[in-house]
Amino acid sequence: MSASDYVLGQSERAGRRLALQDLHFAAASESLLDALALKPGDRVVELGCGAGAFTRRILNRLGPNGVVVGVDSSTSMLEQAKDSLAQHDGQRFKPTLADVSKPAAWLDNADVVTGRAVLHHVPMAEFLLGRLRVTLRPGTRIGFLEPDFRRPLTNLALHEVTRPELAPLLRFARAINDLYSAWRISPAVGASLAPTIEDAGYTNVRHAWHPFVTDESVLENMGLIYDEVRDTYVSLGIITSPEIDEQQKLLRALPVGDLPPVWGLHQVTAIV
Ligand SMILES: C[S@@+](CC[C@H](N)C(=O)[O-])C[C@H]1O[C@@H](n2cnc3c(N)ncnc32)[C@H](O)[C@@H]1O
Repeated sequence: MSASDYVLGQSERAGRRLALQDLHFAAASESLLDALALKPGDRVVELGCGAGAFTRRILNRLGPNGVVVGVDSSTSMLEQAKDSLAQHDGQRFKPTLADVSKPAAWLDNADVVTGRAVLHHVPMAEFLLGRLRVTLRPGTRIGFLEPDFRRPLTNLALHEVTRPELAPLLRFARAINDLYSAWRISPAVGASLAPTIEDAGYTNVRHAWHPFVTDESVLENMGLIYDEVRDTYVSLGIITSPEIDEQQKLLRALPVGDLPPVWGLHQVTAIV
């Protein structure tokens, strides 16, 4: 898969979904930025900046001399990021069209390299982490948030018999795992990230797990993901279009308040 074949959408609608996603990523995002201990003048390279929702959070922590180099392989995403950040942060945001799996000059002089929900889109993401280790200056802080749709499955499966209404949560997790496997990207990279980079000689490796409360915004996001990749799901034989309609209906009908997490984010930070 080439970088321009990003598995989820790149449209404005996809940008809006990423903005909604930013809401339930909020606490984990701020926790990552705390752990990265950003300084006002830092040069931050953000891998896979998308429509700029996480970028805005980074910029909020930097002073007038701080810069975010936002790297993405999608021109449409970079345009949306530029538009949304133009008013306040135009000068401090440097949009860069590139494939993050091939480290290049955009990493020069980075104080911090970060990314949210991007490594799992990179095939064999571990190669990238190794390449970063040899490319970045010693002392560079790195930090990532990566989703995991598998860790919560064990707990979800415990409820399978007694709470049959939870079936659409399991169905969603299975479908998205199947999709990522079909695209040969790295859905499990978050879970193995900390030991992987420790083995490669990064220091001060820290890991935290942020499971999401399955609330209205998480359920809505799941419904939107179904729409965004509907054609891909159908063409790969993962789930049919009528079944997607049915699953979306079941998700909308779930009683919010007592639902177990269906996904979460791994937070990993380290120093080169
Ligand atoms: C799930 S989105 C996350 C966007 C943003 N980080 C956020 O949290 O809102 C993943 C982003 O990574 C970008 N991406 C995926 N693979 C890439 C690659 N190999 N090189 C550069 N960008 C990539 C996509 O275009 C997309 O904008």
